[in-house]
Amino acid sequence: MKEILNVSNAVVEYDRQGLKVRAVAGVDLTLNAGEILGLVGESGCGKSTLGKAIVGILKTAHGEIVFDGSQVKKLTRGQRPKHFRNLQMVFQDPYGSLNPRRKIGAQIADGLVVGGSSRKDALHEAQDLLEKVGLPRNAIDRFPHEFSGGQRQRISIARALAAAPTAIVADEPISALDTSSQAQVANLLVNLVEEYDMGMVFISHDLSIVRRISDRVAVMYLGKIVEIGTVDQIWNNPSHPYTRALISAIPHADGTGFMPQDLPGDVPNPMSPPSGCRFHPRCPLAMPECAEIEPAFRTLSDGRSVACHLQTEGSEPVSISIG
Ligand SMILES: Nc1ncnc2c1ncn2[C@@H]1O[C@H](COP(=O)(O)OP(=O)(O)O)[C@@H](O)[C@H]1O
Ligand SMILES: [Mg+2]
Repeated sequence: MKEILNVSNAVVEYDRQGLKVRAVAGVDLTLNAGEILGLVGESGCGKSTLGKAIVGILKTAHGEIVFDGSQVKKLTRGQRPKHFRNLQMVFQDPYGSLNPRRKIGAQIADGLVVGGSSRKDALHEAQDLLEKVGLPRNAIDRFPHEFSGGQRQRISIARALAAAPTAIVADEPISALDTSSQAQVANLLVNLVEEYDMGMVFISHDLSIVRRISDRVAVMYLGKIVEIGTVDQIWNNPSHPYTRALISAIPHADGTGFMPQDLPGDVPNPMSPPSGCRFHPRCPLAMPECAEIEPAFRTLSDGRSVACHLQTEGSEPVSISIG
């Protein structure tokens, strides 16, 4: 396993009317080549902010992000363009990230030209990429509005691939698509990760798809990862009460998100996070110390990591049962 990304104690802050909002409040995670890491958590918990910090759209206030062996903060001006090509981001709304006035062939070719191809070769390679994502070669001469949502997402994936990335951060890449395109685009991403031996951070509120395609899953709550482990560990034996609540969540009928069960209230405002464990006001298993002491991230005997006072470093996970 080759580690391609190492995020340690990453903090990302927004400025809200002069006040700092810590949307990402100290995150540690790693990503290996060929691996899909699912990132889940309720809306507003900081998933998109973390994704943008990983690809460098947002700056970290503290912490380190090491990608492909280089510390992102220390890259020189000359190194940065290549770095950003190696780490691509795919967004929920492909329409927003494609230029409506340029033919899609030209948009895909841009990345290939930057990578060293001639314009003529690049257009040919763009056709290969379109084929790879399941679109016809003659699509190069068309404009984004001539395609369906699912096809546009395939185009933005082809454009990301043009940069020959080492890793992709996909932020809700299938959430805006109709049900049949969702499965197809998810399968496409899985196949591409394998074929190109890329790493992918797959951000989604759709837990069933995350379960199906991920190798490991990171569970985020109010700016922090509370548990990170394999799909089996997370679903068969969650060790954090928030993970437990999430995996028993019921999806909203309109497909916009999910309702964790047995969880009173909403995600607190990150401007004034709760003391101790940030989850304690909503935790059905909270103990007095949870309001006082922030739980450290601890690695359990099965290799997963969790931030919960119920769990002990190096020990087997204590089974969490609620209700
Ligand atoms: N541009 C912004 N300015 C200020 N606050 C923001 C901005 N974007 C997001 N936030 C806040 O940061 C927190 C995390 O948001 P986000 O990363 O979008 O969460 P998620 O993707 O998990 O829904 C939320 O409290 C949100 O309101
Ligand atoms: Mg988001």
